[in-house]
Amino acid sequence: MTSDPITLMKQEVGKAAAARVTSGSVVGLGTGSTTAYAIQFLGDRLAQGEITNIVGIPTSFQAEVLAKKYGIPLTTLDAVDKIDVAIDGADEVDPQKNLIKGGGAAHTREKIVDSLAETFIVVVDQGKLVDRLGSTFLLPVEVLPMAIAPVMRAIQALGGVPELRMGIKKAGPVVTDQGNLVIDVKFASIDDPAGLEKTLNNIPGVLENGLFVNCTDVVLVGEVIDGKPSVREF
Ligand code: 5RP
Repeated sequence: MTSDPITLMKQEVGKAAAARVTSGSVVGLGTGSTTAYAIQFLGDRLAQGEITNIVGIPTSFQAEVLAKKYGIPLTTLDAVDKIDVAIDGADEVDPQKNLIKGGGAAHTREKIVDSLAETFIVVVDQGKLVDRLGSTFLLPVEVLPMAIAPVMRAIQALGGVPELRMGIKKAGPVVTDQGNLVIDVKFASIDDPAGLEKTLNNIPGVLENGLFVNCTDVVLVGEVIDGKPSVREF
């Protein structure tokens, strides 16, 4: 048990998302510290018999490990023809529910899974809500290692300031679950998220960027009010 209000708030928002999953669903399992609680509570509901017959599609090695820990059976996109609901975190959410994701370097698989879901639920805290994408968080771009130099030059030509993401408690760069590298990019202002998403993905060597445009259905926002955690729908 924890009394840290931020942790309690993440737990509440994770619980609220897990509560929306119904029996028989194929569930996209996102990545990050907030989604981790949703995966935990989904496992609890399954263990308590509150819901039955769900299968998860993980968006990362982290999600796979957590699903196994909490007893959620897993499947793959080869074995299902639809995803009913996906639950995932975000690093920024704008008023149109467009997102920046990739703080955990998992945005490529996250975009595949989240965009296929009939209902995509985003779980965040209040601090992730922004008026304009790119104002607080750098935009992650996953790049094939051999293309890192030309991709950096192409991003500079677009007006971005690229920075190779380095590991913490690991020497050298962050390597994604797919064996690629991540460039975090500062843009002065992201005025056209849909256009920039396409332009970046058109650079040879870019696998995927962290702009998620027009794919969010529900945003659950965790807040701490008077020291108590609460959740509201955005
Ligand atoms: C991983 C992500 C995460 O969902 C995002 O970074 C939010 O994580 P957290 O809930 O830990 O703040 O996009 O690639």
